[in-house]
Amino acid sequence: MYLGLDLGTSGIRALLVHADGSVAGSAEATYPISHPQRGWSEQNPADWVTACNGVVADLRAAHPDEWAGLKGIAVAGQMHGATLLGADDTMLRPCILWNDTRSFAEAAELDAQANLRALSGNIVFPGFTAPKLLWVARNEPEIFARIAKVLLPKDYLTFWLTGEHVSEMSDAAGTAWLDVGKRAWSQDLLDASDMRMDQMPRLVEGSEMAGALRGSLAQEWGISHPVAVAGGGGDNAVAACGVGALSEGDGFVSLGTSGVLLAAKDSFSPMPETAVHTFCHAIPDTWYQMGVILAATDSLNWLARNLGQDAATLSKALGDRIEGPGKTRFLPYLSGERTPHNDSTIRGALLNLDISHGPKELTQAVMEGVAFALRDNLEALKTTGTRLERVLAIGGGAQSPYWVELCATLLDLPIDLPAKGEFGAAMGAARLAQCAATGVRAQDVMSAPDVARTIAPRSDLKAAYEEAYQSFRATYPALKDLP
Ligand code: XUL
Repeated sequence: MYLGLDLGTSGIRALLVHADGSVAGSAEATYPISHPQRGWSEQNPADWVTACNGVVADLRAAHPDEWAGLKGIAVAGQMHGATLLGADDTMLRPCILWNDTRSFAEAAELDAQANLRALSGNIVFPGFTAPKLLWVARNEPEIFARIAKVLLPKDYLTFWLTGEHVSEMSDAAGTAWLDVGKRAWSQDLLDASDMRMDQMPRLVEGSEMAGALRGSLAQEWGISHPVAVAGGGGDNAVAACGVGALSEGDGFVSLGTSGVLLAAKDSFSPMPETAVHTFCHAIPDTWYQMGVILAATDSLNWLARNLGQDAATLSKALGDRIEGPGKTRFLPYLSGERTPHNDSTIRGALLNLDISHGPKELTQAVMEGVAFALRDNLEALKTTGTRLERVLAIGGGAQSPYWVELCATLLDLPIDLPAKGEFGAAMGAARLAQCAATGVRAQDVMSAPDVARTIAPRSDLKAAYEEAYQSFRATYPALKDLP
């Protein structure tokens, strides 16, 4: 029996999984985010521990027999956050999260340094960890001076589980301190933000053992045998493990809070200037590339909130099939944008509104804007040489056949919809736990889910959507310098 934990931005999801991949049980708990200033986003790591204890208690109560057979645990989670520990592992301040943009100036400064993109394989985005530490050095020097270890959010939970400071390649790749090609911390990159090697956790692969479950915790949880804790991984890498996207040509489109177009890679072939992320995968000798848009279902939820309706009702009003693009353009940059613009200050826009327009037209514009932005991501991925023949759709937005058909038509790719079941990061984490506990090969347990249905691009509407996409593309350059 294996426990997969997904430490998300708003809550934790726990999945108890049998060796054959069938699910014994699941549990969820939430925790708050605080925004003490505009652009700031923080969490208290103690809340993650409370939430983790809560989901374990729920699983134990609901599935005592299965729980007793627990052999391995792995944590997946939100990337890039800076959890700062002092000597004796004291928490020095709240964790600065991935969606905190306070360090945009430090990010630009680091990004301009020679060699930085070449070694890290990526633009230094404001959300990444290194610029956060430079911000702490400049604004909270007394805290900076006391830092003994920097842990990513899921590594903090792994530390709590094992008592060991360990990270793994997929999450470490999002710090801007890792030589992503060599899969090792880089002294040059650490020097760039005044960090030391001894402040970094030890590195393992996501599917390797990070440590053993601490004795006192095992006792509290009613377990009297050894339990392996795997390295785990960053949320997108582990979601790729959950859907078996492990080799060149495998990929997914995720219509979640943020939107992701991900492609697995057999080699390290970065092209940072495209604003495509190139990170290590959570399994050895493998990488992945992805384009990230910051507001996918977040855009629809924003609209729903402002119209006083729920997102599902709004999207249902459009029906299941696309009928051609509207005239209104929505730029989904409500929280700034990563790929392809790397612009944390740009904000969203609605253009060409007509007096006759109502919720339906606005919903269509928002869904189209998100799909156009994902097409921008595909174009960026193509520039790096990455090719996808088809993708799997995951995330809450994949419930809308209209949105998926829109994406299929704009990406010009067939999109597979998985059959009902578990295939997210919590499942990927359970599979990593199994690899670490038993030595089984990742490829043997990380299989693609059954496909319930494939949605094909609409060739009859391709030209019309292509024209609309070109008009979408023209808007960012025109708007970006407006005061
Ligand atoms: C990836 C990224 C997000 C976070 C939160 O670069 O910033 O996917 O991991 O989900």
